[in-house]
Amino acid sequence: MSLDVHAVRAHFPSLARTVDGQPLLYFDGPGGSQVPQVVADAMVHSLLHANANCGGAFATSVESDAAIEEARRAAADFTGSQPDEIAFGPNATTLQYLLAHAAARTFEAGDEIITTELDHDSNVSQWLQVADDHGLIVRQARLHRNDGTLDLHHLESLLSPRTRVVAFTLASNHLGTVTPYAEIARHAHSVGALAWADGVHYAPHRRLDRHAMGLDVLLTSPYKWFGPHLGVASIRHDLAASWPADRVRPADETPAGHRFETGTQSHEAMAGMTAAVDYLASLGDGTTRSERLASAYERIREHEDALALRFWQGVEGMEHLSVYGITEPARFDERVATFSFTVDGAHPAEVAQRLARQGIAVWDGNFYALSASIALGLEETGGAIRAGFLHYTTPAEVDQLVAALGELG
Ligand SMILES: Cc1ncc(COP(=O)(O)O)c(C=O)c1O
Repeated sequence: MSLDVHAVRAHFPSLARTVDGQPLLYFDGPGGSQVPQVVADAMVHSLLHANANCGGAFATSVESDAAIEEARRAAADFTGSQPDEIAFGPNATTLQYLLAHAAARTFEAGDEIITTELDHDSNVSQWLQVADDHGLIVRQARLHRNDGTLDLHHLESLLSPRTRVVAFTLASNHLGTVTPYAEIARHAHSVGALAWADGVHYAPHRRLDRHAMGLDVLLTSPYKWFGPHLGVASIRHDLAASWPADRVRPADETPAGHRFETGTQSHEAMAGMTAAVDYLASLGDGTTRSERLASAYERIREHEDALALRFWQGVEGMEHLSVYGITEPARFDERVATFSFTVDGAHPAEVAQRLARQGIAVWDGNFYALSASIALGLEETGGAIRAGFLHYTTPAEVDQLVAALGELG
């Protein structure tokens, strides 16, 4: 069965929004997706009917605790983990810092960390900073300049018996490139290092499964996959239970992943996240939520792959456009439907403004994927323009974007 995009869109009130009488075209998904009504309803319910701190004997606290436990189960199903391997936080970046600080306390001066040029800076900067604190050495694996894929040989050449972490993204939020996670994890494990994956950009497009993917640490942000602003980390149980976390003393006995949750969390965001996972699962078939998620992602991928091809076929002849990353359709399984490009003679910010005036939402700049922007020589000239397609994007919207880009020539 294929995804029924019109049925999907009926769940998202914001998709009916207009600007100057024209429907707003949301290609800004890589920066954050829209949310279905059920997510907003779950957050409203949490705030209006189950709003209390944890561990109380009274009804609202009992209900709030139950919702938090359900959020752990939902996040575990979403990431292929156990509920006590889950840590919630305000966003992925904050969790990256917390976890890197904790992990680095178990390393020794001279130990090495590998990052990649494809990464969002939230999986690079935290390592540079903990390296300063602990005397670690950070190396960076290159991307291939021609097609925006990771140079695996270079990554392999950086491995050593002192490597403790290989930090990499599952999909580039700049170029859309999907990285060969199984090979990277195998390389990391071959020298006893951790496979530390940023799944933020990958998650709205493809199924995450930390366990099956052979990853030790996995980060994701529900606001990129139709949920609220929140961060989720899945941490291999033995690491989550043993890394020295920053804790207040009365919370010392907290189980594994929860040890990285400091203070009172956003219970309403957790409730909204559960609703987002259930919404996604409702797009698939199966007996368990995990099975339904797997089936939903097959449908999402089929739909998005068709959009990616349609976009590429629409723009490939445009001489005023330079598209970065993988452009051969035969290799589109190595990318998600996120495209970065520049327009000859026009600053990316100016292009984004022109498109915004036509009701088209795109991002411009480096998208915090700083290393890729530098590697591709884009950083000095305002970066690039980025358009991302999600499962609620229609072929007609892609055609409108293509037409608007054509007029820029
Ligand atoms: C690939 C990637 N990693 C990390 C982040 C940061 O996520 P958060 O805003 O949850 O900190 C982003 C946000 O754009 C991203 O695209």
